[in-house]
Amino acid sequence: MKDYILQMKNITKLFPGVKALSDVTFNVMRGEIHALVGENGAGKSTLMKILSGVYPKGEYVGEMIVDGQKQEYGSIKDSEKAGIAIIYQELGLVNTMTVCENIFLGNEIVKNGKIDWDTQNKKSIELLKMLHLNESPNTVVEQLGTGKQQLIEIAKALNKNVKILILDEPTSSLTEADSENLLELLRQLKASGITCIYISHKLNEVLEISDTITVLRDGQTIVTKPTSDMNETSLITYMVGRNMDECYPKAKHEAGEVIFEVKDWTVPKKKNPGQYMLNHVNFKVRRGEIVGVAGLVGAGRTEFAMSLFGALGEKATEGEIYLNGQKRKPFKNPREAINSGVMYLSEDRKRYGLVLSSDLRTNITMASLDKISRMGVIDLDQETEKVGKGIKELNVKTPSMLQLAKNLSGGNQQKVVIIKALLTEPAILFLDEPTRGIDVGAKYEIYQLMNMLVDQGISIVMISSELPEVISMSDRVYVMSEGKMQAELDSEADNICQEKILYYAAGGK
Ligand SMILES: Nc1ncnc2c1ncn2[C@@H]1O[C@H](COP(=O)(O)OP(=O)(O)OP(=O)(O)O)[C@@H](O)[C@H]1O
Ligand SMILES: [Mg+2]
Repeated sequence: MKDYILQMKNITKLFPGVKALSDVTFNVMRGEIHALVGENGAGKSTLMKILSGVYPKGEYVGEMIVDGQKQEYGSIKDSEKAGIAIIYQELGLVNTMTVCENIFLGNEIVKNGKIDWDTQNKKSIELLKMLHLNESPNTVVEQLGTGKQQLIEIAKALNKNVKILILDEPTSSLTEADSENLLELLRQLKASGITCIYISHKLNEVLEISDTITVLRDGQTIVTKPTSDMNETSLITYMVGRNMDECYPKAKHEAGEVIFEVKDWTVPKKKNPGQYMLNHVNFKVRRGEIVGVAGLVGAGRTEFAMSLFGALGEKATEGEIYLNGQKRKPFKNPREAINSGVMYLSEDRKRYGLVLSSDLRTNITMASLDKISRMGVIDLDQETEKVGKGIKELNVKTPSMLQLAKNLSGGNQQKVVIIKALLTEPAILFLDEPTRGIDVGAKYEIYQLMNMLVDQGISIVMISSELPEVISMSDRVYVMSEGKMQAELDSEADNICQEKILYYAAGGK
């Protein structure tokens, strides 16, 4: 008999127009790290939302057994009581509260009708120590980086005596170092007997950390196997249902003239005069090329793109901009940039890219209404046609263009913001972490799309922390370090490799 801590049997979950899960079986052994993988929209998050009571009994069909006991949760609270904790990619912390307040949020220790701060503080310190986090419980959460915030989420879960810890894409926005830390911590938790369910699109991490892997595809269980019996190729084949010979469709691009250039682009730090967020940056883009921008988190890559895009306001910046060879004033705001053919796609799609409560059609045409309107009136036929075409070309998984954005899986949301950007008909498209949280198959589609756009004469600037992607897809690569352009590398002449990029990213000359 196998010692299962969790058995999910014949789970089926329907949404209007979507069969998210169909007769899924998912068995997890006590004390293991069990990876759950699959393409965008395969049903991973939905399955975990059932396990954690987000979708309570009555909203799904099937049976759940935890620790030998049949379970039916009415709410998240019930699953927490049973020792299940879920950590989402989007963190659930309250930024303005302290570490300690967050850890005990909704779970406060009360003595004589008052919160027992002393005990809470003591327990927080213990938890932080266990996580090797050298912070005070009184630190306000927003002062911590994403990696540390992630750990606070875990502290919160551990504080509730978690038996099964679910991590849904925990490392997708972490740096390499923070991801490594997190993986190390998971090993530690495993050693202390906690069972972990790990969802990730980073297959190398999955293969490194997990004991067992379950693959979902189109809402069905495809396979559950010991990790030792899997490799990247077999895993991808299970995921996408076909062989994928290559991950990057590298194409040769004929770059044309320089269409965009900045000289001495400088953004002083608002709060610390004399210091720079961006320091005399020189940068150029040719017609029809893919320019990669690499660097460590915090190097200023996003600030660079946002400042060019007018998102910081013209007053925040100094330096010269040349568009099509003509010197011009910095963009006052994003609208002006878009009208001039410069589009920026944020890395934070939930905050800047999507209105989650609106439908796909509204989201997609939001930035390009002038292109589908005549005398201020939207041409609905044209809108429907353009949106439909985008959804089809990028293979967005949705029952209709009237689906609300929040109901799409993470990867499909990313495709939607890309369609939105393309409809503005940009000449230069800045893509900030365009494949974050996206499965291998969809990544390939996005790369192909990039090549196609470039062939049409669009220039793409791709900011990315995934070095293999930068190296494989770019014609030229800029490496940023602490607000400066540290190096410019040519994919033909410079033999770009990860080591080289990391050397410059760390400030090497
Ligand atoms: N609240 C909802 N309403 C309608 N459809 C939904 C809802 N939540 C999820 N879906 C649909 O169910 C399917 C499974 O989605 P789910 O979020 O579980 O995928 P996932 O495997 O987690 O994908 P990703 O890797 O992109 O996060 C998708 O087709 C998605 O659009
Ligand atoms: Mg998901």
